[in-house]
Amino acid sequence: MSFSLKPYNTFGLDVRARDGIVVRDFAMFPAAFDKIRKNGTGFITLGHGSDVLFKGDYDGTVIVNRLMGVEFNEDANTYYVKAQAGETFHDIVALTMKKGIYGLENLAMIPGTVGGAPVQNIGAYGVSLSDFCRYVEVLDLVTGKVDRIMGRDCGFGYRTSVFRTPENQARYIITAVELALPKDWKPETSYNALSSQNLETPEAIYDFVCSTRKIKLPDPKVLGNAGSFFRNPVVSRETLALIQKTFENVPHYPAESNPEMVKLAAGWLIDQAGCRGLNLGTAGTYRNQALVLVNYGGATPDDLVNAAKHVQTRVEDAFGVHLDPEVRIYGEKGECQL
Ligand code: EPU
Repeated sequence: MSFSLKPYNTFGLDVRARDGIVVRDFAMFPAAFDKIRKNGTGFITLGHGSDVLFKGDYDGTVIVNRLMGVEFNEDANTYYVKAQAGETFHDIVALTMKKGIYGLENLAMIPGTVGGAPVQNIGAYGVSLSDFCRYVEVLDLVTGKVDRIMGRDCGFGYRTSVFRTPENQARYIITAVELALPKDWKPETSYNALSSQNLETPEAIYDFVCSTRKIKLPDPKVLGNAGSFFRNPVVSRETLALIQKTFENVPHYPAESNPEMVKLAAGWLIDQAGCRGLNLGTAGTYRNQALVLVNYGGATPDDLVNAAKHVQTRVEDAFGVHLDPEVRIYGEKGECQL
């Protein structure tokens, strides 16, 4: 286990991989593939490691994607922004804002890299990457070629895409993403927290989102975390009705995937179950946003897993609702269950 993953996971866990390589340009891929072949194990690709929890050491090769660069193009109606996978997603948001190219303001300050963005179809405040993703550029390990997967073929859903399946994880390395941003900008302020704010310009939305996120998401350099730890659960209308008997104002939204179902706010459920600001010693949940699992300092993978399971049990006991992790969990052999 020669490769420390401590700098490459925002929980700040002191875990290791059998081997790893930081890829800074295309010319380094052959060396990366040699390592994978030599080790005879699987591999995973990491950006900033801001959406992963390692349950321990990973017995495989890690490719840390640090391909950098941004290109801008335009036609009559659209700006095209192609960013390499290793760029910090927020840097692209900030850069487009500076250039007067709008649309990404709701996605300000989402942790992670451009390469990680399509995997989870990152989203916030009523906007998702899929709203602007023209294509994802990949290195296809089956054909050995660089290819484009158009946005409509990416299987985007709520925090999911085709890139999450084990087959595609072993097949594609995301090298860049091109975003298409219409010149005819329209604000997206329908999300609860924004609708009451009178936000009329992209800058106003950007500033509001940045200040809200600063309050709700702890800086991983201070308090290790991976953003929202659980997905917002999708439940039946009967389950909602049952909860409403006690909690008339339970926040709920229509589920995009199925009109018969509703999406609940996992953060609210955890909060009501008495687990906001939970502190089990080294691991717990954040006091300003219960959905964020945190490393209070010196947590081991087991501490975080136990804290996550504690939250799951408390929510299940209180509401009969199961919470699934949104963060990807990795064990010794690769992606696994909590
Ligand atoms: N709530 C509480 N207590 C809490 C947290 C939330 O009562 O401790 C309530 C809020 O008052 C609100 C509802 O729960 O009524 C939803 O909370 P919030 O608006 O903060 O959003 P969220 O559903 O918890 C999702 C995303 C975030 C994204 C925000 C804003 C997921 C899993 N999380 O959180 O994304 O920033 O919406 O759009 O979908 C991430 O994925 O890592 C992430 C941070």
